[in-house]
Amino acid sequence: MIGCGTVGSGVAKLLRDEASRYAARAGRGIELRRVLVRDAAKAKARGLMADELITTDADAFFATDGLDIIVEVAGGRGPVADYVRRALEAGKPVVTANKALLAAEGAELFALARRHGACIAFEASCAGGIPIVTALKFGLMANRIDAMYGILNGTCNYILTEMTQRGIDYDTALSQAQALGFAEADPALDVSGQDAGQKLAVLASLAFGERVAASDVWCFGVDDLNLADIKFGQELGYDIKLLAIGERTDAGLSLRVHPCFINDREPLAQVHGSFNALSVYGHATGHTMYYGRGAGEMPTAGAVVSDILNIAGGWYPVAFESMNLWPDGHEAAEVASSDELKMRFYLRVNALDVPNVMAQITHVLGESGISISAVLQHESAVGQFVPVVILTHEARQGDIRAAADRIEQLDAINSAPVVIRIIDMPQG
Ligand code: NDP
Ligand code: HSE
Repeated sequence: MIGCGTVGSGVAKLLRDEASRYAARAGRGIELRRVLVRDAAKAKARGLMADELITTDADAFFATDGLDIIVEVAGGRGPVADYVRRALEAGKPVVTANKALLAAEGAELFALARRHGACIAFEASCAGGIPIVTALKFGLMANRIDAMYGILNGTCNYILTEMTQRGIDYDTALSQAQALGFAEADPALDVSGQDAGQKLAVLASLAFGERVAASDVWCFGVDDLNLADIKFGQELGYDIKLLAIGERTDAGLSLRVHPCFINDREPLAQVHGSFNALSVYGHATGHTMYYGRGAGEMPTAGAVVSDILNIAGGWYPVAFESMNLWPDGHEAAEVASSDELKMRFYLRVNALDVPNVMAQITHVLGESGISISAVLQHESAVGQFVPVVILTHEARQGDIRAAADRIEQLDAINSAPVVIRIIDMPQG
């Protein structure tokens, strides 16, 4: 095993505590033979394995006798990517939780695995303990997937839940998520939306059968969100969620991660804390939804160990070799332009409360072909800046961007309008 932090510790505990159950399931015993880390003292202090199993020497690690499967739970790219390549070139199956690596180098690594008679299993890389990789690859194989909508980052969902339900401020909620082991080593990856974007890239390749890279996904995170907007949304019947969205459109795949308002009665609105969920729309099966703990030590370790068992049991390497399900066999995805996307929008404008200001704003929207569906302004003293919230009917994203730029130029407006997308899930 490479890495022994949050996830690696959970893997070590499961392999230690459930050894007889796993031997019965896989038909052979599963034993941790060597653990590669950067700081041996830290790993030894965890007390999860004999000290002599722990090494900081990659050559000693790879020279260990009896390594049948390499488990990569270190994270990141660079040297870790080199270790994964080294394992695959030696024909060893790799189990990884590393979405950053797969989203950037997955197609190449899958091809490498195939050339060397190895395989890669990666259930833990997306949505922690939820078996959505297995569902997309195998359970829904008969379907053409048209769309999927996911809450794929436990840290962001935890932060949003703490802010909206318990009034905790953003920084405190992020610190809590880090202490609970949900956040990445660099939490900027979580709050910027990039971690969810990497997971969407991995899942979209499987769901749509097209090769998707992280750079195909445009990402906005939760780091710019303002509590005032979350509260206005709640007043209007919406909950805020960071959604990862993949949809087939006439212009190609639309792939994006951004905060959005969803109707507070939607099933995805009921997903709180570190839980994740993915709604998938298949042409034959219709709507299915997968829900569970998307981050944390034991849920993620459970997914890693399930992959180990599927390899040890023998069926997964056969499926890997014989089925055309993997990104290296796919054509590069055609990705739709974000300007052409149509949806509803929430706009908040800070406007001076004087005659005619609303007319100026609605004039800009009207000229851009944007139709208003609701307006909310609380009473304030005359002559003060006041937040004006506008919900639109479906509009082209490019038109909203252009209108927001024009509204910002109005004399009676003191800051850039806040724009939050409103997502209406497909019905049925
Ligand atoms: P941690 O930071 O807790 O642990 C990382 C471990 O990897 C540490 O033991 C670290 O060693 C070791 N490591 C890092 N770089 C190297 C290297 N170059 N060579 C050898 N060892 C290295 O991370 P997590 O356990 O949280 O995450 C691990 C992976 O699992 C990541 O890819 C993450 O994205 C993924 N993941 C995490 C989830 C979670 O909830 N935490 C959920 C799903 C996936 P040392 O301490 O000595 O530096
Ligand atoms: N940092 C990730 C999250 C871990 O918060 O979802 C699970 O991939």
